[in-house]
Amino acid sequence: MTAHPATEAAIRVRGLEKSYGKVEVLCGVDFDVARGSIFALLGSNGAGKTTVVRILSTLLKADAGTASVNGFDVATQAADVRESISLTGQFAAVDEILSGRENLVLVARLRHLENPHAVADDLLGRFSLTDAGTRRVSTYSGGMRRRLDIAMSLIGNSPVIFLDEPTTGLDPEARVEVWETVKQLAGDGTTVLLTTQYLNEAEQLADRIAILHQGRIIANGTLTELKQLLPPATVEYVEKQPTLEEVFLAIVGGSHKRSDNGAAKSGDTSDATGTSN
Ligand SMILES: Nc1ncnc2c1ncn2[C@@H]1O[C@H](COP(=O)(O)OP(=O)(O)OP(=O)(O)O)[C@@H](O)[C@H]1O
Ligand SMILES: [Mg+2]
Repeated sequence: MTAHPATEAAIRVRGLEKSYGKVEVLCGVDFDVARGSIFALLGSNGAGKTTVVRILSTLLKADAGTASVNGFDVATQAADVRESISLTGQFAAVDEILSGRENLVLVARLRHLENPHAVADDLLGRFSLTDAGTRRVSTYSGGMRRRLDIAMSLIGNSPVIFLDEPTTGLDPEARVEVWETVKQLAGDGTTVLLTTQYLNEAEQLADRIAILHQGRIIANGTLTELKQLLPPATVEYVEKQPTLEEVFLAIVGGSHKRSDNGAAKSGDTSDATGTSN
């Protein structure tokens, strides 16, 4: 792999088209993702988010258009693209028969890392899976599998990470843990493209948000820019009610030990004012 100038976009997509049979899913998708930023792709079920991720990660060929990842063309330089990325698919890709730790060690070996066991233990700790690390994944809850899946995608420090609905099925605490990890990654210079159905997830995390609708990106901007697409706000007196998520986290966050064996991090979700930031 050759080095690429930091100014070049980490992901560049132009005129991407894809049909499945007669169903046109993408009909000219364009966007850029700056290096070290978090980009959220929003869209309803069936909008084509996973299709975009599969094309960018070289699992699927586009019918037309171009895309590059880390400076490499997904169609003609697929091997270089694969070296540059890691992917957490929409459905957990963990091996049920192995333990969480064994899954991590396996991936670290596949990525030719020097000390796979140390890498595994570090990630188990970061994802509150140390206690469950030696158990078979078949005994894990959905949230634990998801955390393990994301942990596996972090092995090898790829410059670009794709997360397809990383927090679907996670409880609010686990979701906040994933958000923190994603922010940390971007802070360390990793480029993150995530898809999500949770609008607040995009609000919390993303530097830029794009909305995929009927095969095209119909809006793309920072949260502030997207908010300006609506008419100016009128000032009204409204009693601010906490969201259900804030109530849940306030009640459960303070005293609760994760019932799935993850270590409870006291204090990190106990703020009764909620999870903002
Ligand atoms: N292999 C396939 N063969 C035929 N149609 C497909 C195939 N994969 C996806 N589709 C169709 O393409 C459209 C887009 O699917 P895609 O999985 O990209 O959407 P998505 O935005 O990820 O949806 P979700 O939010 O449900 O994950 C859907 O209508 C889907 O039925
Ligand atoms: Mg999808």
